[in-house]
Amino acid sequence: MVDSVYRTRSLGVAAEGLPDQYADGRAARVWQLYIGDTRGRTAEYRSWLLALLRQHRCRSVLDVACGTGVDSIMLLEEGFQVTSVDASDKMLKYALKERWERRKEEPFDRWVIEEANWLTLEKDLEKPGDGFDAVICLGNSFAHLPDFKGDQSDHKLALRNIASMVRPGGVLVIDHRNYDHILATGCAPPGKNIYYKSDLTKDITTSVLLVNNKAHMVTLDYTVQVPPTEVGAAPELSKFRLSYYPHRLEAFTALLKGAFQGKCQHSVLGDFQPYTPGQAHVPCYFIHVVKKTA
Ligand SMILES: C[S@@+](CC[C@H](N)C(=O)[O-])C[C@H]1O[C@@H](n2cnc3c(N)ncnc32)[C@H](O)[C@@H]1O
Repeated sequence: MVDSVYRTRSLGVAAEGLPDQYADGRAARVWQLYIGDTRGRTAEYRSWLLALLRQHRCRSVLDVACGTGVDSIMLLEEGFQVTSVDASDKMLKYALKERWERRKEEPFDRWVIEEANWLTLEKDLEKPGDGFDAVICLGNSFAHLPDFKGDQSDHKLALRNIASMVRPGGVLVIDHRNYDHILATGCAPPGKNIYYKSDLTKDITTSVLLVNNKAHMVTLDYTVQVPPTEVGAAPELSKFRLSYYPHRLEAFTALLKGAFQGKCQHSVLGDFQPYTPGQAHVPCYFIHVVKKTA
């Protein structure tokens, strides 16, 4: 069976010098399979996100970690003006293909897609006027950025750059897994994962790396059963590994407030539902909503 198992550990480095965990292209393909049915996936938060964007009268949205484009496509279909960026060209390839295939639909024809790194965002992407009405960073994306220097200076820089793209009065929606729970228990919270609809996932193994007794990295090893590409062939088991910085809820809230220099209103949800610390349901994800006030 060894031949039917392949591993994807993307060790490539993106153009900007950022380690791109999706660089070998296979991880990007398996990611699409892992997400599963994209409409089913976005149905979990579609109405919440649309209501939030409409409540804040948002028209222009920057998807700052668009990946294969799942959230961007949902917003384009709802008539938003979408700009999508990502550091991985292998992930962007899927978004670019969709734009091409649907170019006769006006929102898709106007869809701006750029390769950009949060660490150099202001250089990589031209900000329209005062900024975008909304910036989204979903799917546990921000946690992909490692703490290269051990002082979170890169996290601070990236969040400052992302915050700078929000116009005054606009909103940032950014999420991360419930790392408080993962660090306390060694595994992901029980219950359904709001982001992943695929029933192809066979297993997820969690490892936590401590550096000087401080949680520095969480690695998830995913095993996904890939459907055969040829008739009669056996399904393959694909393994891929992604590593994340384990942002804790309180610390990440403080980072966000710092990025907006305190000029913001902040609220947090658990799995897109109202969240109260200590509540019975343990969310898989925390979603931060930050409104820029000045
Ligand atoms: C888990 S994927 C999620 C993509 C999409 N939002 C979704 O939910 O399907 C995370 C994305 O963040 C991107 N990413 C990671 N670090 C980045 C950085 N420094 N700058 C820009 N994009 C980055 C990765 O390339 C990847 O496509």
